[in-house]
Order: sequence, then structure tokens, then C-alpha cells
Amino acid sequence: MGRVALVTGGSRGIGEAISKGLKAAGFDVAATYAGNDEAAAKFTEETGIKTYKWNVGSYEESKAGIEKVEAEIGPIDVVVANAGITRDAPFHKMTPEQWQQVIDTNLTGVFNTVHPVWPGMRERKFGRVIVISSINGQKGQFGQVNYAATKAGDLGIVKSLAQEGARAGITANAICPGYIATEMVMAVPEKVRESIIAQIPAGRLGEPEEIARCVAFLASDDAGFINGSTISANGAQFFV
Ligand code: CAA
Repeated sequence: MGRVALVTGGSRGIGEAISKGLKAAGFDVAATYAGNDEAAAKFTEETGIKTYKWNVGSYEESKAGIEKVEAEIGPIDVVVANAGITRDAPFHKMTPEQWQQVIDTNLTGVFNTVHPVWPGMRERKFGRVIVISSINGQKGQFGQVNYAATKAGDLGIVKSLAQEGARAGITANAICPGYIATEMVMAVPEKVRESIIAQIPAGRLGEPEEIARCVAFLASDDAGFINGSTISANGAQFFV
């Protein structure tokens, strides 16, 4: 039996590439999604990867969903906290709802996803926690006070989990993608997107598979001594 990997937001965007990449690397993959039943069904049909629907912003739903995955596929060895949303607005126009929705999904969602699998990883003395942060958690972004706060928070989460998990054979790392060719980036107004691409020395958006390959490496046995780190994959747009 292969190792089991859970990918939140795993049927679309970067998550879709991560789910497929982990499957190709030999993992038994479960992918979660929040609302788009049609996209999830198409994804399962094409890939054979099972999908599960829950809201990562809810602890109860996450815990129950994870119990279902573990009963159907097996104990989760690798957890990829990828699910994320944007609600962009300049700060003076940002509503408390836009703030809260992004905090609930992108930050509390990481707690809700990792906390239920953590005791099992500690018992089995193996685990890989991989959190998909963002370049905008490292540098901030006009219009993303909410999103940047959550993505910076992710880095604090993995640095702390790394210290707590190290002796139990668990690693926790973050990947900070730059601007990747997904629906999320395509939702940015075209003019703004053009100006963003002009700021990327590579001269192009990244591909979801370029992030998926980082995840597959961090999930592997070869990456066992990489713990608490942040991998930037942004075409040289920003250096920490
Ligand atoms: N820097 C400085 N000023 C800026 C600016 C910037 N980056 N962007 C906009 N402005 C200015 C505008 O020029 C304008 O100034 P004036 O009033 O003097 O003309 C003012 O701010 C207001 O701009 P808008 O009228 O466009 O404001 P808006 O409310 O319609 O929208 C926005 C603003 C929502 C922030 C929009 O510009 C936007 O969507 N920006 C993109 C934000 C972004 O990069 N999001 C990333 C999404 S992808 C992602 O999140 C994935 C990832 O991890 C990388």
C-alpha cells in the first residue's frame, strides 16, 4: 500500500496539479473541494482521484471529512494545505466580510486541515505537512491586506510545527508560489495582470506543475531533513 496524501482545494488550479503529481509519484491521493461539483466530478473521471466536499473553514466538517478519507483510503501521511481564496480590495474599501472570509479559508483552514491529522502522524512517527503560501505573504500586495496576512501566517505555522514535529519524524514546510497561470490570477483585471507579468524577470507566469514538483519533492523521503523552510517559486520576482 502506498502512502496517503490529502490535498485541500485539490481538484482545480495549483491543487489539481499537486493531486496529479502526487498520484504520479505513487501516493494514494484524496482531493477536497468546496463547491464546484461539476469540476470535481470531471477531475475524478479524468484522474481516478477521489474527491471529498467540505468547507476547510469549518473544524467540524474538516474533522469529519478527514475521518471519512482515513476510513476509505487509509491514515494520512502527507497533508497539503492548498485551499485558498482571494477577496481583493484596497484596504479603505475592504469589508469585514472580505477580511473574515479570507482568514477563515486561508488561515483557519490550515489549522482545521492539519490539526486532525497531527496525532496520527505523531503516533506513526512519520508525516509531511506542506502549506501553499504565496509570494504575497512574503512581500505584501496592494489590494491584499487580508490575503497577505493569511499567507504570512502560514509561514509562522510551518516554522512552529517544524519544531514540534521534528522528533516525531514530521516535517512542515511552505511553498510560496509567485504568479501562476490559474483562474485566481486570471481573475485579476487584465491591465493589472499585464503590469504584474512585467515585474517577473522570467517574463511569464508560472505553471501549476512547477509548484506540484516542489510538493512531490517535499513529500518524499529524500526531503526528510528539510523542515520549517520556505521554498520560493516565483520566476525571480522577489527574494527573501
Ligand atoms: N500600486 C499602487 N497603486 C495602485 C496599485 C498598485 N499595485 N493598484 C492600483 N493602484 C491604484 C490605482 O492606480 C488607483 O489610483 P488612482 O485612484 O489615483 O487612479 C487606485 O489604486 C485605485 O485603483 P482601482 O480603481 O483599480 O481600485 P479598485 O478598487 O477597482 O481595485 C484592486 C483595486 C482590487 C487592488 C485591483 O487593482 C486588483 O485586483 N489588483 C491585483 C491585486 C493582486 O495582485 N492580486 C493577486 C491575485 S492572484 C493571487 O493572489 C495568487 C498569489 O498568491 C500570487
